[in-house]
Amino acid sequence: MRTVANAPDPTAPGFRRLSYGLFCWLIRTPPVLRGIGWLLRLWPFAGGLFGLVARAHAVKGVLTRPKSFSSTAHAPDLVAGDYLIAMDPGPTYDADRKLLGARLEFLKDVEAVADREAQRLIAELMQARDRPVFDLIDDYLTWIAFRAISPVFGEAADKLAVGAGDIHDQGLTRQYFMEIRYVAGQLLGGRSSPIEMRGRAELCGDALRARVSAAAVDIRRSWDVDLPSAAIERNALGLTWVSHPVTVQSAALVLQELLSRPGVYRALRSRAAEIEASEVWQDDKFRKYVRDHVLELMRFRPIFPLLARDVPRDTELETGARRNAQCRGGTTVTMWSIGALFDPHAVANSRQFCPHRDWGNQESLRYLVFGYGDRQCPAKEYALNIITSGLVGFLTLPEVRLAHDDGKAIEYDGPLMSRMRVRFAKQA
Ligand code: HEM
Repeated sequence: MRTVANAPDPTAPGFRRLSYGLFCWLIRTPPVLRGIGWLLRLWPFAGGLFGLVARAHAVKGVLTRPKSFSSTAHAPDLVAGDYLIAMDPGPTYDADRKLLGARLEFLKDVEAVADREAQRLIAELMQARDRPVFDLIDDYLTWIAFRAISPVFGEAADKLAVGAGDIHDQGLTRQYFMEIRYVAGQLLGGRSSPIEMRGRAELCGDALRARVSAAAVDIRRSWDVDLPSAAIERNALGLTWVSHPVTVQSAALVLQELLSRPGVYRALRSRAAEIEASEVWQDDKFRKYVRDHVLELMRFRPIFPLLARDVPRDTELETGARRNAQCRGGTTVTMWSIGALFDPHAVANSRQFCPHRDWGNQESLRYLVFGYGDRQCPAKEYALNIITSGLVGFLTLPEVRLAHDDGKAIEYDGPLMSRMRVRFAKQA
């Protein structure tokens, strides 16, 4: 088992800590990222010198040239082993993507499953109304995403989460959540992570790999595909960390953004209150209304505000400046996706919060939080459904506010949020 990162670190420890701290702060502070995006859109030439693009047209351009800008940029941060998201197109990519497509079909009832779990948790939270505070991540979102995504693992889902233990043992499941979170966190934190953070993520990656190996027979039986064991394990392992932590974190960011907009929160709650309690979950119009809000809240607080691509060989980068930037082979290009989502040339009233904006011919840009082009998240509709169910349920709760009085309401572990403590407003 590895205990430290497997390559000598060329960066001085002090500088690495500083740059990691700065990176984490930036990821948690989207208004600053948006401000930098504004500068990069204003001076695309300057961004081009550093391999940065932020104009909507330029970001889409990079994401639709996979031969010149490769997803292998993610590879060094996949601590649990290779997976689709960091592969170049080819036979392995095609076979894995086909398998993923087949597994995603098992999420066809995702809305019903997520709704059911959200309702169960809401009932639990209401029963424990006297509790001074609860954690929206640990007590709510984590479980909705877990139940809703589990069908991709078929009958092997429980075995993956708790091994030979009891599925009702929350401690075992929480251990699993922690492993997948650190593995996914490394993809987000990337190269700036200090060596011990990377070491911790690698340990979690090893533990996860051992978990998947122990459940390999169950996964093979459940998936019922004629593929080598290595391929099945690679895909099962990748799916564990690429799906759940990202969905939970995105949902938490959506709620964080909503709580920072009391007017929007109040309007959504009163809209929910106009509907008969039993109908809230069946009302398609309301669901669409909430989904539009989810997408707009994600635009303001995306989990992947930046995306990276490797440059395999010398090429030119269209930044939106009069002249293209030169890109040397062996370098990396960073897309300031959050800048593109606020590009006024592509998005009407881009600075305003408009859930029902008419995106016109830019409808595909609206989903940039899920990537763009061939490598866009294949699970985006499922993930959106899960978050929408979580928000619908949240709106049926009495008003909540962040519980600042018990220390920090929101806590972070690296770039990811680990706690979001709230209390019912009337008890404040
Ligand atoms: C709100 C939740 C989610 C968000 C915001 C999200 C976001 C993204 C983004 C931005 C990419 C593209 C990365 C790039 O271009 O470099 C991506 C790719 C991917 N996502 Fe998601 N994702 C979410 C949930 C999920 C779920 C639930 C699954 C699986 C069940 C999943 C599976 C994947 C896979 C396999 C890829 C790689 C696709 C490829 O490269 O061909 N994602 N996701």
